[in-house]
Amino acid sequence: MNHDEFRRHAHELVEWMANYMENVENLPVRSSVKPGEIFRKIPDKPPLHSESFDSLMADFNEIIMPGITHWQNPNFFAFFPANTSPASILAEMLTATLGAQCMIWETSPAAAELEEKMMIWLKELIGLPSGFEGVIQDSASTATLAAILTAREKVTGFSVNDKGFQGSGILKVYCSDQTHSSVEKAIKISGIGRKNLVKIPVNPDFSMNPDKLREAIVLDKKAGCIPCCIVATLGTTGTTAVDPLRSIGEICHENNIWLHVDAAMAGTALILPEFQWMIDGKEYIDSFVFNPHKWMFTNFDCTAYFVKDAPSLIKTFEILPEYLKTRTRGTVNDYRDWGVPLGRRFRALKLWSVIRTYGADGLRNTVRNHVAIASSLKEMISKEVDFEILAPVIISVVCFRYTPAGFNEDQLNSLNEKLNHRLNDSGKLYLSHTVLNGRYTLRMVTAQTNVTIEHVERAWVNIKETARSLIS
Ligand SMILES: Cc1ncc(COP(=O)(O)O)c(C=O)c1O
Repeated sequence: MNHDEFRRHAHELVEWMANYMENVENLPVRSSVKPGEIFRKIPDKPPLHSESFDSLMADFNEIIMPGITHWQNPNFFAFFPANTSPASILAEMLTATLGAQCMIWETSPAAAELEEKMMIWLKELIGLPSGFEGVIQDSASTATLAAILTAREKVTGFSVNDKGFQGSGILKVYCSDQTHSSVEKAIKISGIGRKNLVKIPVNPDFSMNPDKLREAIVLDKKAGCIPCCIVATLGTTGTTAVDPLRSIGEICHENNIWLHVDAAMAGTALILPEFQWMIDGKEYIDSFVFNPHKWMFTNFDCTAYFVKDAPSLIKTFEILPEYLKTRTRGTVNDYRDWGVPLGRRFRALKLWSVIRTYGADGLRNTVRNHVAIASSLKEMISKEVDFEILAPVIISVVCFRYTPAGFNEDQLNSLNEKLNHRLNDSGKLYLSHTVLNGRYTLRMVTAQTNVTIEHVERAWVNIKETARSLIS
């Protein structure tokens, strides 16, 4: 493809992109293709001869688009969002065009230095202590793995990296039974072993019970185990429960245990002064992760990972083959040493674009509006005698179920599961579910970039009517 052809196709694509953004609301939210349907439409062998980009776009529209679930549709209320925004998309176009691989400072000084500055901006926006240093990772799972590995190295005097686990004792990691599965994954990968992940029971509001945490640590120490790390969650995946950071931090401090905070979704809410209570006790934090790719309007992937002790993070990951030795080493940030991958995309550019075009006020207004919409939804649900709210509404997630009279718990579970499938199959909205205290629970997240109260009101009418039609 020559430059003129590129120019023509790029202009056409920009039209496609703008039309998509304008019309995404009218597309079915969740794709309804059957397993294997897309796969079978793609030829088994790659083409021998060059094909036109026009023919590729024709297939993209015909074959690929029906298999896309539209996360940017404001009727997407499932999981946690993977939000984007025009400013982020434009910056991604620049990143793709530059195609820079930003593994070390020298391979693009601007990428390294913009990343350093963006982490300072984010730290200030969410109110983390000034001594923290940040790095962009691909996902919260990777950041949590980095935290567990660093905690493992710190507690073993950096010996596991060197000689493996022999003689290191049995390490223990603690989190609540509501913690995201990425923690268990990290424990498996780190060699600590999933049997050494202690899941602490929660309070009625689904936050970690610190008394139970203390008891577990006392027992493990008596048995000769070594407490290595506690993971506190701000905004659990099921209900956005907030673990009591100060109490957990004090336990970490007394026992010299690494405190990792997973704020994947709720971290963005910290830009609002009214949510700063969530990080009361922040002085105890050793590492902290949140995802601008969830609620800060920045294309997937973009995870902000902050540490109090950057030298320990670097010591855990550092490796220096000859070909990566530079004259600037030690005087600049070579981010390849701050996590698992060597190669790195230029992700800071989209954050810069989002923060500058929204401004801190713009970000705050949008997030605050999402929180207000969740609170209105909670009120709408609470007014109906045949629906029940199942968890406190803290940020932008509402957990509820349909509870018509005369149904036992098993029947209610089946009914709500059926309701969830019926709604999602309609393509008009997309919800996901969880199970709370044995109850099948619908989760509705009001944090898609373009969601408005009108979308939620329409969805709520649809949910009520669909639910009642199931038993009439
Ligand atoms: C609380 C929490 N932590 C971690 C993750 C994992 O995020 P990622 O997809 O960035 O690895 C999620 C995903 O939703 C989450 O809800």
